[in-house]
Amino acid sequence: MPIASFREILADAFEKRYGVGAFNIVNDLTLHAVLAAAEEARSPVIIQTSVKTVKEIGVGVLFGMWTEMTRGIAVPVCLHLDHCPDRTLISACLEKGWGSVLFDASSLPLEENRRQTIEVVAEAKRYGAGVEGEIEGIRGVEDGMGSDEASKQKTLTAALHFIEDTGVDCFAPAIGNAHGVYKQTPKLDVQRVSDIVSSHPIPIALHGGTGLTTEQFKDLIARGCAKVNISTDVKITYMQSSLAFLREAEAAGKWDPPALFKHVTKAVQEMVTSHFETFGSVGRAS
Ligand code: 13P
Repeated sequence: MPIASFREILADAFEKRYGVGAFNIVNDLTLHAVLAAAEEARSPVIIQTSVKTVKEIGVGVLFGMWTEMTRGIAVPVCLHLDHCPDRTLISACLEKGWGSVLFDASSLPLEENRRQTIEVVAEAKRYGAGVEGEIEGIRGVEDGMGSDEASKQKTLTAALHFIEDTGVDCFAPAIGNAHGVYKQTPKLDVQRVSDIVSSHPIPIALHGGTGLTTEQFKDLIARGCAKVNISTDVKITYMQSSLAFLREAEAAGKWDPPALFKHVTKAVQEMVTSHFETFGSVGRAS
């Protein structure tokens, strides 16, 4: 089972209507914590890497970590490159062994996005990899990518033509979701997901997962959101659990880095497990 294809992982989730958590890891500790949570919960998982993380750690080192940490893993896992407008980095990751990429050409005119996405899909296919596509920017800057301006929703016909013409494996519509912390629970255009899926059955990627309610997750997953992205929650859990531990370390005058790593790993693992429960993916790998 171990390294599964993006298409396979999402096909099962889409068919059975559960969500596969796609967590943006930031280092070895978070990679380990997400994989450990997936193994313990017998849940499939997608490990997401932002362009910033890939550039900071390096394509080779990051892929080496992935290869070593997933050796012998018993649940379906896939390594995914999140929001990447850079074709050179996409090629480097595909060549190295990433299982899928989100080619983010949402800032290009639709026709140019379509043309280049067709090329990326053909390139990915040569490596047996998958592609997520988008035609509207998801609001919110994340790891230096994106914009705080809401992008104008394209017509349903435009979205369907894009999906059919490009052959992407997964589609990410803008439905009022946003990266980062929501100031209030957003009103989401859930009908958009149903409209796309009923005309063209394709796994939908739900971006901006941090801060959505359990009801919103369940409703969107039932409508076809098979990939559920979580990034901000990883960062907040990582930083806040570190802070709490360091405050106690300071008070006690005890400075033991491995104890800090263990504490943060446990916090990230618990956060991931609780998302698996909400997404209905627990036990799906048994
Ligand atoms: P959040 O940062 O809101 O969790 O969104 C993650 C995401 O959509 C990554 O592409």
